[in-house]
Amino acid sequence: MGAREVGLPDTVGANGLPDRVTIWEVGPRDGLQNESEVVPVGTKLEFLDRLADAGGTVLEATSFVHPKWVPQLADAEELLAGLVKRPGVSYPVLVPNERGLERALRAGVEHVAIFASATETFAQRNLNRSLDEQFAMFDPVVSRAKAEGLAVRGYVSMCFGDPWEGAVPREQVVGVGKRLLDMGCDQLSLGDTIGVATPGQVTALLTGFDGVDRLAVHFHDTYGQALANTLAAMQSGVRTIDSSAGGLGGCPYAESATGNLATEDLVWMLDGLGVEHGVDLDKLADTSAWMAERLGRPSPSRVVRALRG
Ligand code: HMG
Ligand code: MG
Repeated sequence: MGAREVGLPDTVGANGLPDRVTIWEVGPRDGLQNESEVVPVGTKLEFLDRLADAGGTVLEATSFVHPKWVPQLADAEELLAGLVKRPGVSYPVLVPNERGLERALRAGVEHVAIFASATETFAQRNLNRSLDEQFAMFDPVVSRAKAEGLAVRGYVSMCFGDPWEGAVPREQVVGVGKRLLDMGCDQLSLGDTIGVATPGQVTALLTGFDGVDRLAVHFHDTYGQALANTLAAMQSGVRTIDSSAGGLGGCPYAESATGNLATEDLVWMLDGLGVEHGVDLDKLADTSAWMAERLGRPSPSRVVRALRG
């Protein structure tokens, strides 16, 4: 069921929005990395399969990080070995360094993401590197990945606020982002890792870059602003939006980071606006309800709760 089927009026005010967006589904990685229990690999594989069945075309599958840092994703090799890739679906994975890339290449991945921090404290806590040292870690990863023909995304975390440093200057975020683009990243995802941004700040940050063609946005819903921020980004022309099925996730190394924008909440808004996305909301909500049962708690997504009670 979508916004139209519940009898909402035709959309107005969608002018200036893209006709179509790509939903970059982060639930299997960003969602499950934050679970206190390790989800069995078979459940993860079924999750990925259901997400593909629901029409997801970019499914961020796992991370090749140090298993001691993120034990929830220590089964990355096993997951990739069991994954039946669907035609037309991309399965990017996170890699922090050359060791991670080596593991990912051996597992046959075609799409990787490095993940930088806009702040000094989060670079230390998330990567065990200073803000400057992180680039030395990423540079050979991007070069090798490009040479091997892989697509490369660059994340920037803590783009608006940081739990230890407070408000993050826009120039600092743009500086980090541009370095990742200059390094050769095909796409940059700007993350509001702790979910504090409001729409005017999103618009202001996006104007700091030379165009939005290579930009994606990644919002967390801590203060209920994720959809408003997404709309602001779309009005600025952004066409790739990160979200997590059922609103799963946070970040194990960022205090106060609650769930990612729920994919169902995003889909409901896109349907209402008449923006194409290719996801079947019914199948997706079923998947999130199924996963919530496995995790033993209800989905934080408002749309999943409205549709599946
Ligand atoms: P380190 O301890 O500084 O690593 O960790 P190192 O380079 O000093 O190496 C130490 C040992 O670890 C070595 O083994 C390496 O081989 C091994 P030894 O020689 O001692 O036997 N090692 C590895 N093993 C397996 N896989 C690897 C790997 N790398 C080194 N990839 C490191 C540095 C970056 C590895 C660590 O800090 C790490 O894994 N961090 C990842 C943390 C993480 O995944 N956080 C969550 C990401 S979410 C996020 O960032 C936000 C985002 O979601 C956006 C948003 O939500 O806003 C993207
Ligand atoms: Mg996130």
